[in-house]
Amino acid sequence: MKIMVIGGGGREHAIIKKLKQSTKVTDIFALPGNGGIAHDAVCVEIGAKDIPAIVEFAKNKAVDFAVVAPDDPLVLGAVDELEKAGIPCFGPSKNAAIIEGSKVFAKNLMKKYGIPTAAYEVFTDMDKALKYLETAAVPVVIKADGLALGKGVVIARTREDAQNAVRSIMHDKIFGESGSQIVIEEFLEGPEVSVLSFTDGKTVVPMISSMDHKRAFDNDEGLNTGGMGTVAPNPYYTDDIAKECMEKIFLPTINAMNAEGRTFKGCLYFGLMLTKDGPKVIEYNCRFGDPETQVVLPLLESDLVDIMLATRDGALAKTEVKFSDGSACCVIMASEGYPEKYEKGFEITVPSQLPEETEIYFAGVKLDSGKLLTNGGRVLGVAAKSDCLETAIGRAYAAVRQIHFKNAFYRKDIGRSALKAINKEA
Ligand code: AMP
Ligand code: GLY
Repeated sequence: MKIMVIGGGGREHAIIKKLKQSTKVTDIFALPGNGGIAHDAVCVEIGAKDIPAIVEFAKNKAVDFAVVAPDDPLVLGAVDELEKAGIPCFGPSKNAAIIEGSKVFAKNLMKKYGIPTAAYEVFTDMDKALKYLETAAVPVVIKADGLALGKGVVIARTREDAQNAVRSIMHDKIFGESGSQIVIEEFLEGPEVSVLSFTDGKTVVPMISSMDHKRAFDNDEGLNTGGMGTVAPNPYYTDDIAKECMEKIFLPTINAMNAEGRTFKGCLYFGLMLTKDGPKVIEYNCRFGDPETQVVLPLLESDLVDIMLATRDGALAKTEVKFSDGSACCVIMASEGYPEKYEKGFEITVPSQLPEETEIYFAGVKLDSGKLLTNGGRVLGVAAKSDCLETAIGRAYAAVRQIHFKNAFYRKDIGRSALKAINKEA
């Protein structure tokens, strides 16, 4: 099979490496991919949002199957256009991708169908939002409605901070048009869990759980980022909690989307908070998480091509989706200054031999005259697996210490809180 993967980050690299393990795959194209992915796939210079060019390419190459990985093309309707052109796809249609594309849609869906989430109000009028905040409890969370590169969320500790956030989102439009509507919601507390799932609209199969580390610096300090590292499984996500989530969140969400005429097929990502009142949905994503995928897919033992085909064709119930009992850890190496300003263009050196069970997933990199250069905020992720989390963490950091580029920075504590939770249980 000729497979085309849309996107060019660490998540896409992890998807491609897993797809390559399938005996069914003969060719993989990455649009646009990146200089590191070029080892594993043919990279084609077509942007992930250039849907007409993507469709044209797929037809010309007679691609058998397409995987649309990032949020933007999904929300823009890439799957609909590819399917219309006769290219089968993994990923939700545009009318289902709205579950991530509009936070207002997602919140209203949860309210209508009784799916546990933070209490909230929606505002399109700035003055009303400011007035509401005069009496709202703090901390309070302000979210721009649309996609904002994972940055559209402000956690305000004081009313004044909250009002300033509302002004900068709705008046100064710091997140662009995605800020013309906002959600103001209750601040929740508890461990966060990411659960990615495969769903064909009838069956939902959760993948192994994971834990992201969203803040830029150790001890969860600094700005929110796209994610600085992950571990899987998430020790807070016990079997009992998984059962509760299936009953109260996962199945109700799939059913709600069906009832709305928006059947979701693809990877549905549940961002959960385990509060003292039970698990609640913080966010839905219509796609694999980044860098969650870099720890989840290495632990998948079944054939990803089979699973993706079954997801599209409504045959998930009959398909094996098996994860190993091991653990994985991914440490992101970023450019100093990320998620704000950073320099790029520095040469990356990687050791010829990595520790066992360790992989590098390239993200913000490019090839230039045979040299691999930094080309983004999150440059690469080093993911390792093992029977035990502590060893996986050790392997990932051993490899990180052997990878060099100017201005490299990474968190030193990825997995520390997960280890603490495991040791407390023991
Ligand atoms: P998101 O961009 O929706 O993933 O939000 C970014 C991060 O903000 C989440 O991972 C949470 O850590 C935090 N967050 C979002 N909503 C809430 C909430 N209602 N209460 C507490 N933290 C939140
Ligand atoms: N790591 C969080 C996300 O992919 O949105």
